[in-house]
Amino acid sequence: MADKSLNEIRNTFLDYFKKNDHKIVESSNLVPNNDPTLMFANSGMVQFKNVFTGLEKREYIRATTSQKCVRAGGKHNDLENVGYTPRHHTFFEMLGNFSFGDYFKEEAIFYAWNLITKEFGIDKNRLYVTVYHDDEQAFNYWKKIAGFSDDRIIKIATSDNFWSMGDSGPCGPCSEIFYDHGGHLEGGLPGTKNEDGNRFIEIWNLVFMQYEQISKDKRINLPKPSVDTGMGLERITALLQGTHDNYETDHFKKLIQSAADSLNVKVDKTNQSSFRVIADHLRASSFLLAEGVLPSNEGRGYVLRRIMRRGMRHSHLLGSKKPIFYDIFKTLLEEMSSNYPELERAQSLIKETLKTEEEKFLVLLDRGIKILNDEIEKVEKVLPGEVAFKLYDTFGFPLDLTEDILKNKSLTVDDKKFDLLMKESKELAKKNWKGSGDSSVDQIWFDIKDRLGATDFLGYTSDKTGGVITLILKDNKEVQDLQENEEGIIIVNQTPFYAESGGQVADIGKIFNENFEFEVLDVQKKLGDLFIHYGKVKKGSIKINDSVELKIDTQRRNNIRAYHSATHLLHESLRRVLGDHVTQKGSLVQPERLRFDFSHMKPISEEEIKKIEFNINSIIEKSSAIKTRIMTAKEAVENGALALFGEKYGDEVRVLSMGEEEGGQFFSTELCGGTHVLNTRDIGKFKIINQSSIAAGVRRIEALRHTQLEHFLKDKEKQSSISEQKNEKIIKELTIKITKLGGKPNFQNNDQAVLIKDLNRQLNQLSVGTILKDKKKNKISDQIINGIKVRFQKILDLPFKDLRKLIDDGKKEIGEGLVIIYAINDNKVGLAVGVTKILENKFDAVKIVRAGSEVIGGKGGGGRVDFAQAGGTLPNKIEESFENIKKLIN
Ligand code: ALA
Repeated sequence: MADKSLNEIRNTFLDYFKKNDHKIVESSNLVPNNDPTLMFANSGMVQFKNVFTGLEKREYIRATTSQKCVRAGGKHNDLENVGYTPRHHTFFEMLGNFSFGDYFKEEAIFYAWNLITKEFGIDKNRLYVTVYHDDEQAFNYWKKIAGFSDDRIIKIATSDNFWSMGDSGPCGPCSEIFYDHGGHLEGGLPGTKNEDGNRFIEIWNLVFMQYEQISKDKRINLPKPSVDTGMGLERITALLQGTHDNYETDHFKKLIQSAADSLNVKVDKTNQSSFRVIADHLRASSFLLAEGVLPSNEGRGYVLRRIMRRGMRHSHLLGSKKPIFYDIFKTLLEEMSSNYPELERAQSLIKETLKTEEEKFLVLLDRGIKILNDEIEKVEKVLPGEVAFKLYDTFGFPLDLTEDILKNKSLTVDDKKFDLLMKESKELAKKNWKGSGDSSVDQIWFDIKDRLGATDFLGYTSDKTGGVITLILKDNKEVQDLQENEEGIIIVNQTPFYAESGGQVADIGKIFNENFEFEVLDVQKKLGDLFIHYGKVKKGSIKINDSVELKIDTQRRNNIRAYHSATHLLHESLRRVLGDHVTQKGSLVQPERLRFDFSHMKPISEEEIKKIEFNINSIIEKSSAIKTRIMTAKEAVENGALALFGEKYGDEVRVLSMGEEEGGQFFSTELCGGTHVLNTRDIGKFKIINQSSIAAGVRRIEALRHTQLEHFLKDKEKQSSISEQKNEKIIKELTIKITKLGGKPNFQNNDQAVLIKDLNRQLNQLSVGTILKDKKKNKISDQIINGIKVRFQKILDLPFKDLRKLIDDGKKEIGEGLVIIYAINDNKVGLAVGVTKILENKFDAVKIVRAGSEVIGGKGGGGRVDFAQAGGTLPNKIEESFENIKKLIN
């Protein structure tokens, strides 16, 4: 075994259990589906939680997995230890075998013993086990199966030998297997004072699942005793490769070497912790990003950001001044993508996010060090805990880094205050973590699904079908019938109604027969494929087993189909024009419009929008048939189909291909369960009508097609011609009035003076209006700089006196942020800066305007905190001036 790699050891484990009638099940996502209580999957049993409790049935009763786990938040949290011990990780793989009411203690012990001593060939004289103190059964099985004497089976009475996944869920006593790495290492047997040393290491935990924890004080029996086991792949690999240190295995050595190459720094005893942190945190960050988690300030995104920043601080400690994580990612990809193809699929997004986050962090770090140096000037002996905490919270400085810097200056930190603030912030984070927002599946559906099985969905090819009522629910309770005017849920053996999913809204329509009509208002799917129709009885009554017809609103569905197909073309076109870091973050397909959210760091330019629309409309105009194929998810991805990150697909998937190109290739190929048009021409003309930013790194596009687009454009035209007509009418009236007053303009004549002033104002408004509409004269670029929305606008020929109004309009349009406008007129520059209310305590318009005017040859400038203006004489320095302003924002 000594020559086996981590990847080979994973396979040996899975194959062994396969040989013993276990089904190899793919790892579930790190972000748990349907489990609002858990931040990340933290052990192999998470995906089987409902199978253990009997809520869910699978077609197998024995399974084996290698599960992706993250322990960096919640009950199991190892973050701060990583790098300083030989075995802690934020991300790791847990190998496990599971019995769902099939075998129990004896077989579990037998399988484990056989694998480690026979298949892995581990010396049995180096093995010890623990059992829960009152578990005589397990104790006796170990004696029988392993032939252990009593002193090698250690009874433990603490929670170490009673495993639970969190505050609730399946749990039970456990038995752990330990390996003695030898007397040259410090450490005692489990249960002794020295148990946390490096000599005796737990390699496998066998949990005898017997109970379900309902609440803090309530525990019930599981329907059938079961087995859940967990063996850290990294640990067993270390052991089999002859080391006690996970970071000395083939896999970690490669990652660490790659970091050393990128940094051009040699690994030695003094810096090895930093390299270990980098290798570990790169794994956790990449796997989370691959599932679509993005760094942010709350929930899962916050944990990801902390992991990333902790890693990046260590690369900085090693002397790096530029991003390196995205570069080392290539080694991780080589190492792990054959088992985890999601890394490959998401590689552009992963690299791009690692790079931008590290660039941002390096700037923050420099600023943090400056702040720390300023504070050091102010204190004599002890740095206030508040300062150390701010450095930790905002700039990602762990306390030890701050202490390190202070040590050289013979200063200390008020660490009591720091600890207090840290505790408060953790409590706050816990309070704010309201769960994932996914709803857990109501219990009743498990039972119903068990009885009825899946609903046949016939809606890909039919708008109308027959069916038999199999279940009726009123107020969430099963009933025999539903009467006129009553609301409820109807389940039929088959249906043409599409249930809301994948962004596509549900169909509406009716379920009826001669005596009865039920208006279907919404359709949802439970447990993957049980379709439930919500609605109200319009006429007559219905009971179980009645035959009915089901008919969807076809015209509405046709519009939905067209928007769904348009969404695929948009997705692909965005990737082609903006780059393949573009990944879907959300989508809404309705009968009257589409909305598409995706990862992209900056606004899309006018030119890019044109290209995106051009691509889409060209495919539509080619009028080619849309092709649907059914294949396995693996085949689909191998065929280049786009799959969504974090989405789990069934064994068979639908693959939609649109826009046939030469050589049988398609413009877009995507995995999708939605409904689509048959030919691209059915989409009709397409146009993007709005883009915005909805979160850091996430943009939203709204688009219209066909008749809705025509209506929209007509409306817009009407609006603008109404306002032009209005202006023209006013001017005509004023001119007539002035002419009526007669003679040369007489400024003594009050009426005439007022009218002329009014006329000038109107003319001016008209010409300003024309300038603003002219894309060549008025260039607007909305950007996000350091998390702040910034509008950078350049306008030719605009009178400077109009700047103020434009700033006000700009502020309204962007909502919150900074508006910076340069007007060029007669070779002079007018610069105006606006700061919206909420940012007034962070930015001062006067300071910003001064930074800008310096560069355009202006002197000073003035105003207030929310608005300031200045002038200059160098129009060709505008870009440079804006760069100077950006420095204040960064
Ligand atoms: N679920 C058990 C563990 O995580 C096997 O240790």
